[in-house]
Amino acid sequence: MSSRRKFIRNVSLTAASAALIPSITKADKKRRVEQLLAEGGIVLSTWKHGLNANVKAVEILNNGGRPVDAAQQGVMVVESDPTNTSVGLAGYPDRDGHVTLDACLMDEFGNAGSVTFLEGIEHPVSVARLVMDKTPHVMLSGEGALQFALLNGFTQRKGLSPQAKQAYAEWLKTSSYKPTGEAKDHDTIGLILRDSRGNFSGACTTSGLAFKMHGRVGDSPIIGAGLFVDSEVGTATATGVGEAVIKICGSHLIVELMRLGISPQRACEEAVKRISIKQKNYKDIQVGFLALNKAGEVGAFSIQPGFQYALAKEGKNDLMDAASLLTVGKN
Ligand code: GLY
Repeated sequence: MSSRRKFIRNVSLTAASAALIPSITKADKKRRVEQLLAEGGIVLSTWKHGLNANVKAVEILNNGGRPVDAAQQGVMVVESDPTNTSVGLAGYPDRDGHVTLDACLMDEFGNAGSVTFLEGIEHPVSVARLVMDKTPHVMLSGEGALQFALLNGFTQRKGLSPQAKQAYAEWLKTSSYKPTGEAKDHDTIGLILRDSRGNFSGACTTSGLAFKMHGRVGDSPIIGAGLFVDSEVGTATATGVGEAVIKICGSHLIVELMRLGISPQRACEEAVKRISIKQKNYKDIQVGFLALNKAGEVGAFSIQPGFQYALAKEGKNDLMDAASLLTVGKN
């Protein structure tokens, strides 16, 4: 805390004691928690839909919620958005017409939960949370994940949204499949945060690449690929073509680079560079990374230009443009 801030706080404490205020009002408490967030809480998430997710996450933190609650409830906003075609039940289907969902989260203690290939559940991230809290496992998949969700009170809702139905009918005309990870056919929500005490958490959820093969699972539910959290160091998340992210354990790589003292920005750049070395077709795909470290520094980098992220910090929630490896696409 800066000495000026300490001074202001000391002055106001002295003033409060002098005035002998008997109790703290609810509004005072709220203001104090908001101040706590302003003093160190940071939330960042992928793409424009992250703006709404951040608002919810900040609200949970401001109300004294755990970082993992904030991450979970933040991404739930996007899972419930009926206009979002790449997260939640309104997502585009796979090539067989099924919307299959992947999600994971990690808490401030390094606990993790994940579900993959889950059909018809509005909040896969909440099922992942239950996997973390109620089972000895990290990951449940497909039928087993669904059975677990239903046993725990979730309800199943199948079918395609009108927009997804139309896009699928259009796709069936050619059935051509060439995943690019561009925002138009893919935009996972990965949300990572640090609370004012320096604890980290994150969540990541997606319906995966549009028109993927039935059974395909991307990076988003894979701990270390789509998301990694270590409260001793920081956190990272990914968006884009999951296969490229899985092959370099992207989010884990970034956190481990940060552990060595590398800044979040340079760590994200290194992960993208690693993909560009290992992945022959990297110029044809999009991958974006976000990272946050103990010092509150933020990193964001992608292969292609156009990757945006939402950053909530010091009372503001802004949409930011990430720097990229290629500057005008495919150069
Ligand atoms: N990044 C999400 C996916 O590839 O499914």
